Amino acid sequence: MALAPNLSEVTSGRASTLNRHLELSEDQMRRLGYQAIDMVIRHLTQIREKKVMNYKSESVLDQLLNDRLPLEGSPPEYVLDDVQNRVFSNITHHDHPRFFAFVPGPGNFPGAVAECLTNGFNVFSGTWIGGAGAAEIELIVIDWLRTLCGFPAQARGVFLSGGSEAGLVAMATARNALLDNKTADATIYCSDQTHKSIDRDLWLLGFPRENIRRLPSLEDYTLDLNALAEAVRRDRKAGMRPFCLVINTGTTNTGSIDPIQGAADFCEEEGMWLHADGAYGAGSIFSTRGREMLAGLDRVNSIGMDPHKWMFQPYSCGCLIVREGVHLRRTFQYRAEYLKLVDDSLERNFCDYGIQLTRDFRVLKLWLSLKIFGAESFGKAQDWGMYLAEEAERAARTLPNWEVVTQAKLAVLTLRYAPPGTREDERNALNEAIVDQFNQEGYGMVIHTRLRERTVIRMCTINPRTEVSEIHETLIKLDEIARSLA
Ligand SMILES: Cc1ncc(COP(=O)(O)O)c(C=O)c1O
Repeated sequence: MALAPNLSEVTSGRASTLNRHLELSEDQMRRLGYQAIDMVIRHLTQIREKKVMNYKSESVLDQLLNDRLPLEGSPPEYVLDDVQNRVFSNITHHDHPRFFAFVPGPGNFPGAVAECLTNGFNVFSGTWIGGAGAAEIELIVIDWLRTLCGFPAQARGVFLSGGSEAGLVAMATARNALLDNKTADATIYCSDQTHKSIDRDLWLLGFPRENIRRLPSLEDYTLDLNALAEAVRRDRKAGMRPFCLVINTGTTNTGSIDPIQGAADFCEEEGMWLHADGAYGAGSIFSTRGREMLAGLDRVNSIGMDPHKWMFQPYSCGCLIVREGVHLRRTFQYRAEYLKLVDDSLERNFCDYGIQLTRDFRVLKLWLSLKIFGAESFGKAQDWGMYLAEEAERAARTLPNWEVVTQAKLAVLTLRYAPPGTREDERNALNEAIVDQFNQEGYGMVIHTRLRERTVIRMCTINPRTEVSEIHETLIKLDEIARSLA
């Protein structure tokens, strides 16, 4: 394991001394900080040469990393080198320009700097008195997003850990607003393409699993409004209380967008809460194309969106906006004797809008990178992601024996290798094998997923640093592997 070159200066003989104040000297802090920033810059500038997926089993990593609790400290430079050598060499790079798996996390450097700043100042953003400047920035950024979504001024929002928590807070708000928190006979509707985190959110809130109606989606993997109407009618007849519809504004599997206007009309008529899971796709609201595709978003009751996906922020950064914002506070506000200093009349205490009292300042990363790059650059970066998926689709259509299963939509494409004379089960196994081999080779990373009993290869191309040549090379490599395996 490489030691820092200047180790002897730092240690002056002994590896560490007892440090009751948990402090480093000014010089040590500076050196450690520069070393860390250099590590990040090296990572970002050399990322293309790195293997995308780095996988080792738990038992191997246990052996590599399972140190005993250190009773004494060690030289900071040494510890940081250790992180680089033993930990970061064993992570998959979701920010790699050729990471097309799951939902990439392209991140951005100002966002990373913001994280360093908020941790360095240890900003508390749970209450106004605890961090007014931070709370004000959160209000401002929520207002920017609110405006892009077309929500009215009374909308309120909150930054949280991501899409799963956004769903939880949204469903809790809906439950409080419409059900008086009684869940036993309340039914919830969504398409079979809806992210499973919604099921977990509902279960956590006490909704019986059997009350979730996952309706078969249409040919294009969007919500079937007729099936929805029928299911709601049937449930009402059976004495249930249809209460909430969750629509997708960009499914994880195919990037499909449910019919927002039709869903809004339906929910208005039925008195149901309409939640949009925009964890993936709603990020695209900075792009004109994105906003056009999401027309009608202003009519939903709540929307979750993840800046740590298509708004290019480091993990973790999610956001929920509720159109009638008062419901958020009604659901989450509580007071205790130890919070007497917190002034309710200001309506600026973010602990009242979600499940965290002690909150960090995660919104700073979005604010900082928007300030530095500008919203138009975000829009262009999102357009680029959509173009890359379309380019991948064009390239796939020129390759013999490849099928485009779902067209490029919101930067998601699914395809599969289907040589003539092979059975469906053979094709499924073949496409899984193609993905495994491609990922093992390390050039890029894709996933396979299931669409109506078919195994397909899925690419998500939202990293703005991906080049067209890398898209083409990916398809060439997939094709070479496919032909060698078939
Ligand atoms: C559509 C959708 N909803 C919800 C989630 C869950 O979000 P998170 O992983 O940020 O909790 C994801 C994650 O990829 C997603 O794609």
